[in-house]
Amino acid sequence: MKLNGQRRWAATGVVVATTAATIAVALSAPPAGAAPGCRVDYTANNWGGGGFGASVKITNLGDAVTGGWTLKFALPGSQRVAQGWSATWSQSGANVTAASMPWNGSLGTNASIDIGFNGSNAASGDVNPTTFTLNGTECTGAPTTTTTTTTTTTTTTSNNPDPGTRVDNPYVGAKQYVNPDWSAKAAAEAGGSRIANQPTGVWMDRIAAIAGTTGARGLVGHLDEAVRQAAGSPLVIQLVIYNLPGRDCSALASNGELKATEIDRYKSEYIDPIAAILARPAYAGLRIVTTVEIDSLPNLITNVSPRPTAVPACDVMKANGNYVTGVGYALAKLGAVPNVYNYLDIGHHGWIGWDDNFGATAELLFQAANASGSTKANVQGFIANTANYGALKEPYFKIEDSVNGTSVRQSKWVDWNRYVDELSYAQAFRNRAVQAGFDANVGMLIDTSRNGWGGSARPTGPGPTTTVDAYVNGGKLDRRIHLGNWCNQSGAGLGERPKAAPESGIDAYVWMKPPGESDGASEEIPNNEGKGADKMCDPTYTGNVRNGNNMSGALADAPLSGHWFSAQFQELMRNAYPAL
Ligand code: BGC
Repeated sequence: MKLNGQRRWAATGVVVATTAATIAVALSAPPAGAAPGCRVDYTANNWGGGGFGASVKITNLGDAVTGGWTLKFALPGSQRVAQGWSATWSQSGANVTAASMPWNGSLGTNASIDIGFNGSNAASGDVNPTTFTLNGTECTGAPTTTTTTTTTTTTTTSNNPDPGTRVDNPYVGAKQYVNPDWSAKAAAEAGGSRIANQPTGVWMDRIAAIAGTTGARGLVGHLDEAVRQAAGSPLVIQLVIYNLPGRDCSALASNGELKATEIDRYKSEYIDPIAAILARPAYAGLRIVTTVEIDSLPNLITNVSPRPTAVPACDVMKANGNYVTGVGYALAKLGAVPNVYNYLDIGHHGWIGWDDNFGATAELLFQAANASGSTKANVQGFIANTANYGALKEPYFKIEDSVNGTSVRQSKWVDWNRYVDELSYAQAFRNRAVQAGFDANVGMLIDTSRNGWGGSARPTGPGPTTTVDAYVNGGKLDRRIHLGNWCNQSGAGLGERPKAAPESGIDAYVWMKPPGESDGASEEIPNNEGKGADKMCDPTYTGNVRNGNNMSGALADAPLSGHWFSAQFQELMRNAYPAL
């Protein structure tokens, strides 16, 4: 699987500065007495022309608040609140007040709420607000994510949650399921025991996977084992829902078993049985995270006519509506199970990060979230970079940088994209999704299983400032030949280990694609899994319009997608970052 890094549809000529800044606030100790206390994490994303979006996460570190709350802070410069969500917003001069809504006026001890607003008049030099009060008390909480995890752990010790109550971030305070089938393969590799106990995604990649296939237990087997591993504590098990009709329309490596028109089989032979199993009372204490249908909806944005990147099979899927219908149906059915947390796939920054793709994807996802009887309430959040290789953070160049007056956006590598890495992309997408109508507390996952880019070839500082290309190419961690390359990338390493609440707006870093499982066969291999041979997995292929006609960068001798690829596993360990 894993799809094209998609180029922008048409380059725009104007460079608009984008900045993202996250600050967290910690000030003095709370007054003695009733033990009030709070922390505020404020993240602003400037999208140019003075416009910006701000996410404000309030965490109550004091006694439970029941009768409503009021947050106050001052905006810098001449910034104005234009439109806010999840609170009643008002502004007098610089002073902003956000008052709770009837439905979110109670905030238990250690509970958090995400509110936010879109604003205007941001100017360069503006510094984010640093002083906040909640019901008159200055927010003094420790700002580190470590503390977030710890404090929220306390909140969630009341789990196993009541059936019917979803927590804000299922990963916080929870163990994670280790898939014994993957773990055994990893442990059998020299050095593999160093990571064999990491949680990885369980891919329901065909109807037969529900009952189990050779070497892979079925869904009930996984869930029973998950209950055993949970041993009474909260535990997240991660499933990948991946079997849409006409699957993977722009590539061949992971074409699925269902034909473009077989939406009824998708519903009755795939989603319904999965939903029925997940709803069994025996599994009610698990936190079941689903990644819903990777690479499908983004394909309907970038790989359809009249774009030069159009693929006929994607035009078919757009015209028959079965991606949207299927995703809506999956969300509705799975979301009806109270302990299921659905995360919709949003591709990655090297695909959806261009202006022509970004907002359109958010809007299409919102449409799908409301299709087939679903509502946005069935969407817990989104996942970026599933099975892709985009660097989490590019520390040595930023989208705002320029060299001799030329923006990095004009470099060959960035090519007018608006983002240079997955973290900035995911955080910005979250804001855009809220603007499209999704709930303000949606969370993001980032698949970091193979985006580490460590090893001896990893740059240790910025590139030379001779030309913009020298600067970007010399400093970038991502060593792919082209951002659009996606199959078994040579030089890649394991990325950040799975981690809960690592950054503002991010529910978790996850290993959704199990390291060591191939993205696709280097050459045609007959099979009964519906998998084709995609040239992007052939190291001798010289490319197509979707990767700027560059070499594929794929490793040689790869087996079918999903099959064990020892050489890749070994390279991923060698190039791990952080190193093993
Ligand atoms: C394949 C699936 C496999 C998954 C995880 C996908 O590319 O199509 O069959 O389960 O990767 O490795």
